[in-house]
Amino acid sequence: MTTTPRTRARSFDAAASLYAAHRPGYPDALFDALEELAGRPLEGARVADAGAGTGIASGLLGARGADVVAVEPGDGMAAEFRRAHPGIPLVRGDGNRLPLVGAAFDLVTYAQAWHWTDPALSVPEARRVLRPGGALALWWNDMDYTVPWVARQDERIAAFLGAAPGSEPRRLPDLPFSTREIRWSRRVPLDSHLANHASHSAFLMLGEARTREFTDAERARLESLFPDGAVEEPYVVQLSVAVL
Ligand SMILES: C[S@@+](CC[C@H](N)C(=O)[O-])C[C@H]1O[C@@H](n2cnc3c(N)ncnc32)[C@H](O)[C@@H]1O
Repeated sequence: MTTTPRTRARSFDAAASLYAAHRPGYPDALFDALEELAGRPLEGARVADAGAGTGIASGLLGARGADVVAVEPGDGMAAEFRRAHPGIPLVRGDGNRLPLVGAAFDLVTYAQAWHWTDPALSVPEARRVLRPGGALALWWNDMDYTVPWVARQDERIAAFLGAAPGSEPRRLPDLPFSTREIRWSRRVPLDSHLANHASHSAFLMLGEARTREFTDAERARLESLFPDGAVEEPYVVQLSVAVL
């Protein structure tokens, strides 16, 4: 597969069920912080969840009482979303041209999806669909690289992919953002931890055979670190909210 930003942005489509099964959710504390920074409760809020994927964030926003409309460009991700969340409306489209009416939403959310948009287009689109005083919320959930075993694993991933370790640099648009960092963790079987890694776009672009090379080697290493076969994955969510 040729690597272009678009093919990488759409790489999730072929792996939507892997993504849905193994990617982490988001902690309650994230939604508490979102309410605080947006200055309103999620209960009853009209939310456009852009880059909704398989619906991990949309489902949790809905569970907090938000009235969610999801927006997703990818065929595979949208199909998985509709299977998992038949009660949440999903419209096909992307953040650069939201298929939504103007001045209708209290919140526009991008859960790990903003970096796939062109801010020159997606900022004016968020402004257009938000009602006055509505908020744009962006977040990313990364493994916590301050934890030694995670840092060492990340170095192995970076070496295997020929990339720089750590999360990719994320530039926020020039808006009045307030930010929070939320640490949390989840405990999953080792195979699920490895499948979670395999569902990231860098591995999806590499293809199954090369990805298996990495996960097989990694399984052997982690078996001695987690002899009971359960991995405690530590995470940090970086949340940025701008009231516009
Ligand atoms: C890492 S996934 C995040 C999915 C979901 N928000 C979650 O929290 O699991 C990124 C999603 O962004 C979507 N995407 C790619 N390009 C996009 C764009 N230009 N605008 C909006 N979403 C995009 C992908 O199809 C994918 O579903």
